Amino acid sequence: MNTLGRFIEKLRASVEEQTFVKITLSRGRGESGLRNVYGRIVELKAGTMMSFTLRYANRDVTRNEVLADAPSAIEKWLTNDFEEAHLFTTAGDWKLRAEHGGEWKMKVARPTFSAALATSHDRPKVRAIANAQFLVKLGVTAADGTARPGMADKLRQVERFVEILGHLTDGCALRDAKSVRVCDMGAGKGYLTFATHEFFRARGVAAEVTGIEQRVELVEQVNRIATDLKLEGLVFSPGVIGAFALPEKLDVLIALHACDTATDDALAAGVRVGARLIVVAPCCHKEVRREFSPPEILRGVLKHGILAERQAELLTDGIRALALEAAGYDTSVFEFISNEHTGKNVMIAATLRQSKRDVAPVLAELHALMDFFGLRSQRLVELLGM
Ligand SMILES: C[S@@+](CC[C@H](N)C(=O)[O-])C[C@H]1O[C@@H](n2cnc3c(N)ncnc32)[C@H](O)[C@@H]1O
Repeated sequence: MNTLGRFIEKLRASVEEQTFVKITLSRGRGESGLRNVYGRIVELKAGTMMSFTLRYANRDVTRNEVLADAPSAIEKWLTNDFEEAHLFTTAGDWKLRAEHGGEWKMKVARPTFSAALATSHDRPKVRAIANAQFLVKLGVTAADGTARPGMADKLRQVERFVEILGHLTDGCALRDAKSVRVCDMGAGKGYLTFATHEFFRARGVAAEVTGIEQRVELVEQVNRIATDLKLEGLVFSPGVIGAFALPEKLDVLIALHACDTATDDALAAGVRVGARLIVVAPCCHKEVRREFSPPEILRGVLKHGILAERQAELLTDGIRALALEAAGYDTSVFEFISNEHTGKNVMIAATLRQSKRDVAPVLAELHALMDFFGLRSQRLVELLGM
């Protein structure tokens, strides 16, 4: 059997043994215009299927195949359209790549996805979010799971967020949680709040998710959708981020694209209640832009508005990350989604550390940084009394 055949056999076995998580085809050969194909298992009315998202330059197309036919469809794509494939299973990750001359090479690596799925006797709880009903109700997808006109980026953002949430949850104390309490502050139209609820529900975790939003008409609108879909444990409440009283026991705090210092208010609230996972995607950075007074050496650089703006972003989010570390969290800052889709693409994720560590050096670093930029205060630092 050749290497492609062995890869297809791994795929077939992973589906049969229920260790399959997902598959990605990449490095399109060009003629078909296909950029990627993503495959996941979904439960549909018609039964368990492999749902493929076919990504072209300007649109996504969804195609569902019965599980038994999915490996042949993938083999055909790899023969005609793609030079690379990643198969993610709970037993291992398999990478197939065509070398120069077209010869296939296959490599195996440790599984990206958790052992928790591997030990489960249930079907792996990985559902294509693209087929979730809330996306239809929110106008993101049509009934067949394809993005509605103009909503492909939103769908990608939701999918990417769910993927990140998966990695973060698996990497922290919530990995094996049976129940979670989540607050999404500044929920807006609730795309990511619904997605968070769906993510936990699909993993078999009892989730109590509250979306907090200051615009009452939005709250009413999304509550109606949650009720129509009978989504137990999902509720939206009117409220202002800095003033909303969070429950004492909170597992996850989310605040995505909340304006300026509303992100700091949300972070401080999450730290105060000891949320085990905090995820924010900051929006504008007006406070620091207004208040900082950089040293003379940077004058020639920061006289340009765009550079001053970027410096303010860098400094604000750097300060936030350090403040979270000083508050007992392990922190990472990364790109949420390629900035081809949105300018607001930085994400800060913080997981509560299990053991104490001396935070004095981090605090000293934080204050030295603020001094360097002539910044007397910053909202999060102030709220946390640092
Ligand atoms: C840009 S939208 C983002 C919505 C959603 N989090 C997302 O990323 O798709 C920001 C939302 O936060 C809300 N918001 C901003 N500041 C807020 C505050 N202080 N309290 C409550 N909601 C706030 C706005 O009304 C708006 O709906």
